[in-house]
Amino acid sequence: MKDLAGRTAVVTGAASGIGLALSERFVAAGMSVVMADIEEEVLAREAMRLESDGAAVLGVLTDVRDPAAVEALRDQALSVHGSVHVLCNNAGVGPAGPMAETTAADWRWTVDVNILGVAHGVIAFTQLFLDQREGHIVNTASEAGLVTNPALGMYCATKHAVVGMTEALWREVHPQGVGVSVLCPNLVDTKIFESERNRTDGVEMSPGAAATMAPLREIIGVMGIPAASVAERVHDAIVGDRFWVLTHDMTLPAAGCRFEDLSAGRNPSDPYAGGVDRPTN
Ligand SMILES: NC(=O)c1ccc[n+]([C@@H]2O[C@H](COP(=O)([O-])OP(=O)(O)OC[C@H]3O[C@@H](n4cnc5c(N)ncnc54)[C@H](O)[C@@H]3O)[C@@H](O)[C@H]2O)c1
Repeated sequence: MKDLAGRTAVVTGAASGIGLALSERFVAAGMSVVMADIEEEVLAREAMRLESDGAAVLGVLTDVRDPAAVEALRDQALSVHGSVHVLCNNAGVGPAGPMAETTAADWRWTVDVNILGVAHGVIAFTQLFLDQREGHIVNTASEAGLVTNPALGMYCATKHAVVGMTEALWREVHPQGVGVSVLCPNLVDTKIFESERNRTDGVEMSPGAAATMAPLREIIGVMGIPAASVAERVHDAIVGDRFWVLTHDMTLPAAGCRFEDLSAGRNPSDPYAGGVDRPTN
């Protein structure tokens, strides 16, 4: 799809951060945008803000953990706009903390949003795009889907799943004219480390998780790149039909380090050590 003007995008996790920036970028490209999120008030406010600037925007309260809700999102988008051309499965949560302190409830929440939430979008929209012989699916993973970090075990596990699912999807549908991209950002200045606000099971963070999250919240505000720059890269990947969407120079060397360890039969070394002081075990 070289020209997005006049077409329709559906974005999940659209009320905040990267999803909001994607919605704004698509509006700037002349698209109609269906913004889906679990945060009702913020979603309504942001959709109204974009609409009052003249954009064709619709906010749809959607919990991506619920497959029926994602199907209803697709049906609503189709009934309003007639067709959908771009789907961004972007909603996600970012819990952190030592793996030994995680609970089954923590895993369930993280897997439900970060893996199944993406899968529900893939299930609801892929056949539509295949029938149209046109469409582009962007799944938001993370650099944590290409490398691993201590204290981000659940997050890494779910984001690796998103990369794997998305690459397999590309192999299946790209030959039939459907575009697929995987977004793998490093730190972006958003509310991802305040994801507990999106948790509905009432389970509190463990002390270790709380101690891990606090500095992460500070670091992301200082080191995080603007979400708008990520949205620009996603836009360019869609029109340029590119699978990998990376946002930081450090990502490729870090991911490469893992494959070097693998081919050398080495235990995992520090992906951010830049090739220096790797263990030789
Ligand atoms: N910010 C970063 O540094 C970073 C880096 C790599 C990947 N990501 C990924 O980017 C995506 C967007 O996150 P962000 O950084 O913009 O954070 P954010 O918290 O600002 O936005 C996430 C949005 O997802 C929504 N959401 C959460 N659970 C949901 C659910 N069950 N159903 C529907 N919506 C739900 C939230 O309400 C929120 O609006 C996530 O998948 C995240 O893992 C972020």
